[in-house]
Amino acid sequence: MNTPDKVYERIVKAAEAVRRLLPDGQKDFKPKLALILGSGLGGFGSEIDIVAEIPYRDIEGMPVSTVEGHKGQFIFGYCGGAPVVLMQGRVHYYEGYSMEDVVMPVRVMRLLGADFLFLTNAAGGADPTFSAGDFMLITDQIMNFVPSPLIGGNVRQLGTRFPDMSEIYDKQLRNVISETAEKLDIPLKQGVYCQLTGPNFETPAEVRMARILGADALGMSTACEAVAARHCGFRVCGISCISNLACGLTETPLSHREVQETADRVAPLFTALVKRSIEEICKL
Ligand code: HPA
Repeated sequence: MNTPDKVYERIVKAAEAVRRLLPDGQKDFKPKLALILGSGLGGFGSEIDIVAEIPYRDIEGMPVSTVEGHKGQFIFGYCGGAPVVLMQGRVHYYEGYSMEDVVMPVRVMRLLGADFLFLTNAAGGADPTFSAGDFMLITDQIMNFVPSPLIGGNVRQLGTRFPDMSEIYDKQLRNVISETAEKLDIPLKQGVYCQLTGPNFETPAEVRMARILGADALGMSTACEAVAARHCGFRVCGISCISNLACGLTETPLSHREVQETADRVAPLFTALVKRSIEEICKL
């Protein structure tokens, strides 16, 4: 495990590399909001006025995703006039990366100046009233099945040793997203996201357990990013695309293909909801 100073140095170096790779005239581009694109939102780049696309592999020390359908790059640009950075592709704990690796890009985006972090993902619905294709505003989370990304010496340059997590998902941002969904006439559920390690989907017994513990949606990302983001001072919000009902709630076996197909099917609505929400959040 790296020492806190090494962890910090790695983030600083990556942020410096990004600055070097930004085009002339944009070297001091300061994103206001950072957006992590989950399944179905991979094409979100076409919604913004792009200033630069920087592949992760060109950035010193950045982890590069191995998952099918996950591109790996930062996209810098303007969304409704507001400066934003998008992560097209994220790395997952189940790929074998350490939690330090998994949350590194979040920390880099904070160093680049972003104040808001908008998390998106595809998730399995554990609430039996959910349907595939629903959207769920994340109100809170459970991540006790994966290690905290803050384990190890505290990186004091980023935040405090024992950060408060009483409101990971910012109330004001949640209100903005709910109001935006209402304006767009897009139904929006609410609930608790639970991160499991994956890559296997859960068993029916594990889904029942997660449900008893208070989970409404199950996934393999996001919660660890949210904890690292709160630690370093981001204001955080997130939406899950319910790509399938969790195992045991339907007869059909789960597949990555089903997840991808549902996410792709509702992508236009998801894109509209996220885009308009970002525009409103950036006015705050
Ligand atoms: N479980 C865990 N992660 C997921 C699921 C699921 O059912 N669907 C999409 N990501």
